[in-house]
Amino acid sequence: MRMRRKPWARPELEACDFFIVDPKELKGKWNNSYKKEQPIYLELGCGKGTFMAVHASHNKNINYIAIDIKDEVLVLAKRNIEKAFEELGESLDNVKLMAQEILLIDEILGEEDSIERIYINFCNPWPKERHKKRRLTHTRQLENYKKFLTSNGEIWFKTDDDELFEESLEYFKESGLNIKYITYDLHNSDFEGNVKTEHEEMFTAQGIKTKFLIATR
Ligand SMILES: C[S@@+](CC[C@H](N)C(=O)[O-])C[C@H]1O[C@@H](n2cnc3c(N)ncnc32)[C@H](O)[C@@H]1O
Repeated sequence: MRMRRKPWARPELEACDFFIVDPKELKGKWNNSYKKEQPIYLELGCGKGTFMAVHASHNKNINYIAIDIKDEVLVLAKRNIEKAFEELGESLDNVKLMAQEILLIDEILGEEDSIERIYINFCNPWPKERHKKRRLTHTRQLENYKKFLTSNGEIWFKTDDDELFEESLEYFKESGLNIKYITYDLHNSDFEGNVKTEHEEMFTAQGIKTKFLIATR
């Protein structure tokens, strides 16, 4: 869905103390860049941030990185995250939000960084053959993630799209990642503690099942 331009988005983001204007500067230094040094979980394509808002405000023992490419959604993520922390009366010191092209993730994260979990929620399916390399679960991307994913790190992947899910299983296999958990119908599975994203709410309302897996190194 195309979003209306929001000329106020960038100034609002730049005035926010958990928005990182130049994430390249933190490459190799993420683990020491939070108030407390603790495990880091990364969300790729966070959209309006409802998933991040719930996770980060309820898990103060984890540090989070939330990435999207569009200021127009990042500014809504910023507001949703602030609201969730405010409602719980928690101090907002375990989240960093940033605009970054994920296909160039190695500009900001490298072997000196340790990420314990990566969330990929409802990423674009890129169904055309010539576009598949842009998928966030493509083997080429997984190879990049492996540089900063810890030895017992996990990738949690949810999607509405059957073809993307099936082909991603191949990508994970090609990258030597093991599937630790898999369901083709998350909401009717034994998995507990799922937090629905904006797209998950939308597709569920249309009767489309959420496919979900956890891959480990
Ligand atoms: C379909 S939306 C899903 C949003 C959210 N995760 C959800 O489940 O509701 C995909 C999001 O990923 C972002 N995105 C897609 N490709 C990206 C890329 N290559 N780099 C950074 N962000 C990207 C889009 O801007 C969009 O907000």
